[in-house]
Parts: sequence; C-alpha cells; structure tokens
Amino acid sequence: MTPMEKDYSPFVPGQPISPEFFVGREEQVQHLVSRIRQTLSGRLEMVFVGGERGIGKTSLAQFVRWYVERDLKVVGSYTHLGGVQDISEAVRRSIARLIQESDGKPWHKRLRQMLRAHIRQVGLLGVTIEFTPPSDVLQSATVNFSQTLKQLFNSLRDEARGLLLVWDDINGLARTKTFADWLRSVADETAMTRIPFTLILVGLQDLRLALIQNNESLARVLFPLDIPLWSQNECGEFFRSAFDRVKMTVMDDALTEMVDFAGGHPALAHEIGDAVFRMDRDGTIDHRDAREGIFQAAEIVGRKYLEPQVYNAIRSPRYRKILQVLTGNARNLAFQRAELLRRLDPEARDVFDNFLRRMQQLGVIIPDTEGGRGSYRFRNRLHFLYFAMETKRTTF
Ligand SMILES: Nc1ncnc2c1ncn2[C@@H]1O[C@H](COP(=O)(O)OP(=O)(O)OP(=O)(O)O)[C@@H](O)[C@H]1O
Ligand SMILES: [Mg+2]
Repeated sequence: MTPMEKDYSPFVPGQPISPEFFVGREEQVQHLVSRIRQTLSGRLEMVFVGGERGIGKTSLAQFVRWYVERDLKVVGSYTHLGGVQDISEAVRRSIARLIQESDGKPWHKRLRQMLRAHIRQVGLLGVTIEFTPPSDVLQSATVNFSQTLKQLFNSLRDEARGLLLVWDDINGLARTKTFADWLRSVADETAMTRIPFTLILVGLQDLRLALIQNNESLARVLFPLDIPLWSQNECGEFFRSAFDRVKMTVMDDALTEMVDFAGGHPALAHEIGDAVFRMDRDGTIDHRDAREGIFQAAEIVGRKYLEPQVYNAIRSPRYRKILQVLTGNARNLAFQRAELLRRLDPEARDVFDNFLRRMQQLGVIIPDTEGGRGSYRFRNRLHFLYFAMETKRTTF
C-alpha cells in the first residue's frame, strides 16, 4: 500500500473525539449519568468537570450530553465559553445552541415558536440561526434564569425528561464573584421551580477553587468530578480500536510501546497514533513503525505544547546541562535529587533547585512518591524523549 491509498487518519490531535469513537472513562460517565438521572424527578445537579489540559474534559462532556439525550431523553446543549466574561452572553449562547442543536428534532418548532421574536435566519442559504434578544430581555432572562429554564423546559415537554447545559472553558467567567453569586442563586431558585436541570461546568481544576473562594456555599452544590489519566488498558484499547477502524493491524510489541510513551494522556496518545499512522507503509504497525512514529510525535509535542512553556529552560546553557545529565539514561524517568547533584558540575548545581521548581510548576517533573523523599520523576515518557532529543541537538 502506498501512503496515497491510505484512509484518513483515525486520530484527531487537538479536536474533541466524537461520541462514537469515545474510549474508556466508564466510571466518570456512569457518575455523570447517574447524577443526571437523579434530576429527572425535578431536581437540580451542578457538576464541575475538571482536569489538566488535553485530558479529555470536552470529549467527556460532549459524550455524556449525547448519551443522555439518547438513553434518558434529556435534551441539552453544549456551549464553548472560552473568553466570555458576561453571564448574559453565556445565557444567550446556550439558548442559541439549544435552538441549533435541536434542528430536526420534534421540539425544534415549538422552541422556535416560543423564541420567534428574537430569532433571525442568516447566512447564504438561510440555515444559520441567530438568537439576538434585546439587552433588557436578555438581562431579565439571566437574572430570572430559573424561570427561563422553566419556559425552555416547558417547550420541550413530552419530548424531554430533563434539561442539560454544558458550559465549557468557563475561565473567563469563573474568576468573578458575580458569576459565583449568580450560580448560587440559580441553584436555590431552580430547587424551588422543580425543573429537572443539570449544569455541567468544565475547566481546569483551579477554576473550581476560584469559584468556591468567591462564594463558599457553592462548595455544597457544585460536585467536583476530576478526570484522571487513562489506565493502560484504556490507552491500549484506544490505539487498538483506532487502527482497527482503518483496518490496520497492530503488533503487540508496537502497542506496548505506544501505550508506554503516551502515559495515559489522551492528547499525547492522539499525537503518537497520528504520527505512527503516517509512518506506516504496509498496513501493519510493527515495532519499527511505532518507534519512528514516537520520535516524530515527541518532536511535534515538544514544539506544540512544551516549547512555548519551557523554551527558556531549554535555552539556558546550565539548564540544558542538567537536562542532558537527567536524560542520559534513556529508560530511567526517575531520579534522586542528591544523587543527581553529585553528577553535576558546580555551575549547574547552583541552579538545580530553581530548575526543579520550574519543571514542577510546568508539570513536567513530579515528586516520585514511591521513591521516598528527594525522589522525582518525569511525568511522561514522551516529554522525556523530547528533552533527550532536544539536548542532543548541537544547534544553539
Ligand atoms: N475518551 C476519549 N477517547 C478518545 N479520544 C479522546 C478521549 N478523550 C479525549 N480524547 C482526545 O484527546 C484530546 C484532548 O481531548 P479534549 O479536547 O476533550 O481535552 P480537554 O481536557 O477538553 O482539553 P483542553 O484543556 O485543551 O480543553 C483530543 O484529541 C481528543 O480527541
Ligand atoms: Mg476542552
């Protein structure tokens, strides 16, 4: 097979996975689904889905939204709010999404009928819908959000057993006290209207803390759901099913290698899979394809995700020296601070603790709890490989 004849890559680095290809996360899915199920008797649930960059927060939220609509008849919408600082803009966008996403569904007409005064069809073919209520109307819909929800839910009635809104990337909203207070009042008022309503907020973990700091009683209403790394099994299943989809066979040792380097991180797993997919020439992924793809992926990941953050750390000659010593032993991600200090020259030794602190802040190196005090390790083998390759380069 020549590369031209290949199918499209089943890997989508940088894009949330579509529900049919979603892998693993059974525990988190079950948890969310059971919370949503609890709302059906007329209750409210608010969940904060948190986790580091690229761990799969958006993918999980979109999967659950799709799943509960199919299995529980809970109608919902997914809204991306990155950069939005205004609550009423968040409300406006969610309603606009709800109208858009209900296209072709039985309740679409009723929803549009109810909101007709504020809807416009735009776009070349007249299919894009704009929801632009006057600001006083929008303001009132925001302040009386539980009433807004009630009306929306009523227009779905018979078709829907519950309502779900997903607000993703709420970084612009979450740091303000206004939002925290608004959320708290929505929780109280929705409890009285007895609308079966779930709000899923999505963001980096520290946003949940920011919210709670702004309104302490939110801690009692906002359930935290953290997304961990994939287990080795989940990661293996991911590679296997993705290659399977494009009818490629994966040898066991190649699979082990890819799983090992991805370290359970979905975003990295997609980068690796994609690079290996491109590398292969005969439809069977063997150990060599995996190896070569992993090297490519380390470059890509280094340039895309790491370099912008650790650029200075790598360019500093003393830090570079430290990285050289650290990555000298290719299979060993772990190290002892004391032992490493002995292997450094005095100049590098002087800046070692700064280096360690900086790398920990960036999440590249973490304390190694199994190794005891003074033990550390690189968190991820692909990162490690990038640093090893980078320090071997002669240029700089
Ligand atoms: N369960 C999954 N199955 C398959 N691929 C996944 C899964 N979860 C995440 N991914 C993939 O991992 C990458 C990161 O996922 P996603 O965008 O959902 O993460 P995120 O936590 O929302 O990231 P960010 O912090 O940048 O918003 C994407 O390429 C996505 O396709
Ligand atoms: Mg995301």
